[in-house]
Amino acid sequence: MAWTESGDPDQVHRRLVRHFQDRFGAAPDVVGRAPGRVNLMGEHTDYNAGLVLPVALPHATFAAVRRRDDDVVRVASLQQDSGWEGTLAGCGPGGAQGWAAYAVGVLWALGTGAGEPLEVPGVDVLVDSTVPVGAGLSSSAALECAVGTAVVALLGHDLDTHRERLVRAAVRAETEVVGAPTGGMDQTVAMLAEAGAALLVDFADGSSRAVDLGLAASGLRLLVTDTRVSHALVDGGYGERRADCEEAARRLEVPTLREADAGQVDSLDDDRLRRRARHVTTEIERVRRTVEAFADDDHAALGRLLLASHVSMRDDFEISCPELDTAVETAVEAGAVGARMTGGGFGGSAVALMPAERVEAVARAIDLRFVRDGFTAPAHLLAEPGPGASVRRVGD
Ligand code: GLA
Repeated sequence: MAWTESGDPDQVHRRLVRHFQDRFGAAPDVVGRAPGRVNLMGEHTDYNAGLVLPVALPHATFAAVRRRDDDVVRVASLQQDSGWEGTLAGCGPGGAQGWAAYAVGVLWALGTGAGEPLEVPGVDVLVDSTVPVGAGLSSSAALECAVGTAVVALLGHDLDTHRERLVRAAVRAETEVVGAPTGGMDQTVAMLAEAGAALLVDFADGSSRAVDLGLAASGLRLLVTDTRVSHALVDGGYGERRADCEEAARRLEVPTLREADAGQVDSLDDDRLRRRARHVTTEIERVRRTVEAFADDDHAALGRLLLASHVSMRDDFEISCPELDTAVETAVEAGAVGARMTGGGFGGSAVALMPAERVEAVARAIDLRFVRDGFTAPAHLLAEPGPGASVRRVGD
């Protein structure tokens, strides 16, 4: 069985500082850390002014940053061969390409736009990460938020008073610099998550609150299975779904699908738009019920909600794939309370809720089924809800 470990944060920190010194010839000033996430309920609802319920993973991205006294920006990663070198002026739209655009896009976003822009200096940045890339676990937001967090600390600002601003900057890096039309869930949870809890976010007004899942008390665990079918949010499918939702809202004459009710949705003539809108409105309701079911420790209800969500994403929103369907089905057959695909879709990961003693058996059953069906071997991880972004000065 392949397990993706989150690593010991102290070890990752020390290793990164050492590599930074080797590469750039001096120690970094600060190391920012921001987690990946797995969403438990509320998929493709964020850009419809809906509700989401993600948890931060213990797996995180670390960005070591050193201030320079010119306007040069250099970024490199321990996971990627190619880096990027340019100037602050080249960090905006049309500048860096590939993974580096997420990192330097945040520098641009923090230094521009509404509010008081920060005086972002030239920097050297080295990145290390235990968040799997392309697994639908939000490695992009982790990267944006790790770099942003480090820069805010580098400028001597208090992180806690800058968390919301960092969410906005990370979203702008992704939508305006990288060009992925995503909705903000990933950056919000990366910055605002609390350990042990999920984060309920309402995108109608941007409010959020921690929801204690009581996993330890109820003996439940969250198993995430990366199908290794790589997903990319800059590919067409995500944007097409978003456009469908906007078109459905336009035809229903509501500002967003959050304002549409089931009766209105049923009145849509176009079959595809009706199914897209039905997914969104029913999924928002499932987020509410999931929060209640966790509070009541009602495993049967949680199981029904997770499966209903998966079916809705598979049939109405059409963002699943055979590997995700197989992982979900097999997890439940092998003793999970419930399971669903998670994240943007078109590949990526499934999440399953189960009693702690079933974790090994479920992971093994999925592995065997993937072999039988001729799929690439999956990788698993345990999603113990972790904290949002943090920062350490080097030497502390
Ligand atoms: C991706 C996006 C999020 C959200 C999810 C689907 O993770 O980045 O904004 O839309 O897909 O729920």
